Amino acid sequence: MQTVISTCPITPRSATLLKEEAIARFRSKTASVGIIGLGYVGLPLALLFNEEGFQVTGFDIDSTKIDMLASSRSYICRIPETEIALARDRGLQATTDFTRISEMDAIVICVPTPLTKYHEPDLSFVTETVKSIAPHIKAGQLIVLESTTYPGTTDQVVLPLLQNGNPLKLSVSRNNPQAENTFFLAFSPEREDPGNNTIARSDIPKIVGGVDGYASELATALYSSIFHRVVSVSSPTVAEMTKLLENIYRCVNIALVNELKLLCLRMEIDIWEVIAAASTKPFGFQSFYPGPGLGGHCIPVDPFYLSWKAKEFDFATRFIELAGEINMAMPYHIVEFIAEALNVRSKALRGSKVLILGVSYKKDVDDLRESPAITIIEALQKQGAFVHYNDPYFPKIGKGRHYDLQMQCVTLENLGQYDCVVIVTDHSDYDYQQIVNEAQLVIDTRNATVGICSPRIVRC
Ligand SMILES: NC(=O)c1ccc[n+]([C@@H]2O[C@H](COP(=O)([O-])OP(=O)(O)OC[C@H]3O[C@@H](n4cnc5c(N)ncnc54)[C@H](O)[C@@H]3O)[C@@H](O)[C@H]2O)c1
Repeated sequence: MQTVISTCPITPRSATLLKEEAIARFRSKTASVGIIGLGYVGLPLALLFNEEGFQVTGFDIDSTKIDMLASSRSYICRIPETEIALARDRGLQATTDFTRISEMDAIVICVPTPLTKYHEPDLSFVTETVKSIAPHIKAGQLIVLESTTYPGTTDQVVLPLLQNGNPLKLSVSRNNPQAENTFFLAFSPEREDPGNNTIARSDIPKIVGGVDGYASELATALYSSIFHRVVSVSSPTVAEMTKLLENIYRCVNIALVNELKLLCLRMEIDIWEVIAAASTKPFGFQSFYPGPGLGGHCIPVDPFYLSWKAKEFDFATRFIELAGEINMAMPYHIVEFIAEALNVRSKALRGSKVLILGVSYKKDVDDLRESPAITIIEALQKQGAFVHYNDPYFPKIGKGRHYDLQMQCVTLENLGQYDCVVIVTDHSDYDYQQIVNEAQLVIDTRNATVGICSPRIVRC
């Protein structure tokens, strides 16, 4: 990528004027919006702004994605190609050319924030993105980070990179009405729930936290055009922490039911029946469900951003660590249950033929990131099992950040050939009655076979 630095002379304008001009463009939907990172978060967001009439340009370093969008193709299952084609007719553009950042009124960053193999934050995608855009930013632009991260990232990492990396010597607005040549910076967490069709994205309240009041006001104006409710908090740090609290809450509660599930199995109590009964309480209880382990880009990852940051303050986040320990052990418990169930049938795991049903991290989504299915497959293979898989969303499993499986999806024919069929992800398309009818043994980690009675089912 060639870096072309803008050398246009600029007429100094006050922060107040720049803010008023930008707000007018956001409210009239005449603003140009740049979305950086066109993945599970960025592409739907780009489509949402485009639907509302904004001039949207998507930026990504992955030229395959850019080429696919250019020919109106989709790489995310739940986004049909007709939607991309419609968006393109309305003017959606996609590019790898970051010099075009200078044409934008608002820039929203939606790049990955994974963990390293040592479970520490990997902010490299964010820092690389910010370094790529810094040379091209201009006065009056609103820049928003949406990637989930630890409190302090926007202020302590993004802000200095933007200020030091732009040749126009622009600085961030700091509530100073007279300041000239300023840009505006905010954090706004993404709250999408993939596969959840019960709530429209625009109905999910949007949190924004600006570096100053001007940035908050601008971010509120921008997002109010696509979200029905925008909640402005006092700083980016509060907004960053809010997102982490939401995900830590889920992570800890899932760990709690996972641990209780292990106890219930030992006590021969049906945890699913217990949860269903408890959920009839009209207050003070929210249902969480056990499973084969955590997956996805968020719940297994985000809490560790905070526990890492907490160490800087000599603080141990014990709930997060304990929840992580319990959740991470779940796939290995499933492997133990499989071995035990085979043992009861006088079979060893070594040499057994095992079919994994569903490999995505949750039902009806095409996302394999951090999926417990990967850990289960690797552990089974290590113990000498012959493992196959079926998943309508994945014709093959190749190489990821932490695995290299090179497996092809098999059909659901002749299930009786497998010593054991393991339901890891309960996709809606599966006919569970038929699976139980045909298989020798079914290990159900999701309660997908509820209501089906058969000695061939082992629920765990
Ligand atoms: N997926 C979700 O459901 C979800 C929900 C809430 C929050 N988040 C957060 O949103 C962020 C993005 O997640 P995602 O699931 O969309 O990730 P993703 O991997 O699906 O997409 C990220 C995109 O960013 C691109 N990219 C990487 N580096 C880049 C760079 N330097 N410049 C431009 N583009 C670059 C990648 O090519 C990819 O297309 C993460 O911080 C994640 O934690 C995700």
